[in-house]
Amino acid sequence: MIPPILRGIVYAGAGLWLALASALAGDAPRQSTRSAAEIMDILMWNREPVGGPFALTDQAGHERTDSEFHGRLMLVYFGFTYCPDVCPTDLQAIGLALDKLGPDGDQVQPIFITVDPARDTAAHLAEYVPLFHPRLIGLTGSDDAIRKVADAYRVYYAQVPLKDAGDYTVDHTAYIYLMDRDGNYLGFFPPGTSADRMVEIIRPRLAAPAH
Ligand code: NI
Repeated sequence: MIPPILRGIVYAGAGLWLALASALAGDAPRQSTRSAAEIMDILMWNREPVGGPFALTDQAGHERTDSEFHGRLMLVYFGFTYCPDVCPTDLQAIGLALDKLGPDGDQVQPIFITVDPARDTAAHLAEYVPLFHPRLIGLTGSDDAIRKVADAYRVYYAQVPLKDAGDYTVDHTAYIYLMDRDGNYLGFFPPGTSADRMVEIIRPRLAAPAH
């Protein structure tokens, strides 16, 4: 028999071990590796390459990799479906720009990558992305996979607790990345860019011969 006082110590010890095991298992806070300021500095002055390979799950539950989109331009946007304002506005502009490009718009693959994979499951994305464009692909994945792709695209995101216990929002940068037919970074549209402006910038790229 373990005396009650010792039992308490044993339980406390177990709790500590659980916390330690969870830390070792990689339960890091859900956020990008670098700060918003570092990331904005990189993007503003083009200090580092942007983008990179990914393997994520789409809204139908299928694995999708960046390489299957080569040959098309990619419009890549990071956000989360519970975002009250910025994400839906930008996704609407992306959808409208694709419509305005007409049949040529098929050369552009719009991609929405969630920075809130805990809530944005494939099933949840399936209800969300079609609101903006029928060809919009929504991607989710493990915390690690999302952090990796967000870091590669120089995206800042961090969970921010709300007043209601357990509830949170996600603070994030909202640049719209334009990638060329080989998946290389061309540049970004700032949040709030209009559909017409996107069309002006993208259309000359579509005239370029595919290779
Ligand atoms: Ni947002």
